Amino acid sequence: MSAEDNSPVPDYLKRGRVDGRNYVILGGGLGMGRQTVHALSQAGASRIMVVDIEQSRADNVAAEIPGGLGWSGDITNRDEVKRLVSNAAKAFGRVHGIVDIVGMAQWAALLDLSDAMLERDLDINFRHAFLASQEFARHMIDNGGGTMVFIASVSGKTSAPMHAGYGAAKAALMAWVQSLAVELGPHQIRANAIAPGTILTPRMDAAFTPEQRRANEAVSPLGRIGRMEDIASTALFLSTEHSAHITGRTIVVDGGVRAKFPYGTL
Ligand SMILES: NC(=O)c1ccc[n+]([C@@H]2O[C@H](COP(=O)([O-])OP(=O)(O)OC[C@H]3O[C@@H](n4cnc5c(N)ncnc54)[C@H](O)[C@@H]3O)[C@@H](O)[C@H]2O)c1
Repeated sequence: MSAEDNSPVPDYLKRGRVDGRNYVILGGGLGMGRQTVHALSQAGASRIMVVDIEQSRADNVAAEIPGGLGWSGDITNRDEVKRLVSNAAKAFGRVHGIVDIVGMAQWAALLDLSDAMLERDLDINFRHAFLASQEFARHMIDNGGGTMVFIASVSGKTSAPMHAGYGAAKAALMAWVQSLAVELGPHQIRANAIAPGTILTPRMDAAFTPEQRRANEAVSPLGRIGRMEDIASTALFLSTEHSAHITGRTIVVDGGVRAKFPYGTL
């Protein structure tokens, strides 16, 4: 303490903990979702519901942590999301936060994108976030607030070559998070998004050709492709008091790719 500044110093390590809190991780059965389950568990989460459309994925990841509970259902369907919130509230009492990781790109030239493909893009990249945020918000409003974290994409911040529908749906998600923050802030609910660049998930790892891998490394100032733990750590940050005054924002996690000057050498 000094004569000039005697303001109290908080326990900063404690601000990074989530001891005694309960979380629901949507799309937690694989990749970034699984890593986020572990990040929250290591930070002290009491109970974590691992949600996945594939029952075995949900159950397997839930079994990896203390207090894990697998739950299977399709979260693009409102009745299923209502069932999820009701089951989570019954099992945990209070849900303090959600992390929604579900999303997937479809690949087609813009002029070939069919009505059905656009519907799918909106369902799998935006509709579940719309449904989950509404239904969990009702629970959080009644229970003193909470945190919501959604995985968007850099493809929603630029053009999205051969995946324009995905980019548009992720842009909608990032816009939605701003409205969530403003309308739900008075209820002490914070909502944020993460926009990853390329991340080496098991699916990407299997799909990448050596040339694609090298090209993705070369474009990054850090010289590497993003890792799942880069996203899980950011989701943890956005779920803790470290980010207590951050809401309505999207954090880009791309190794600095978007920080580059886009016009070449002047
Ligand atoms: N991998 C990348 O390079 C990258 C880059 C930018 C953004 N993203 C975004 O990151 C997120 C995770 O991507 P990923 O490739 O790791 O995902 P993934 O496919 O590996 O995992 C998603 C999980 O969600 C589950 N799931 C799918 N549909 C569901 C539904 N309707 N209801 C419940 N569960 C469902 C899947 O079974 C799967 O286990 C997505 O939102 C994706 O758009 C990924």
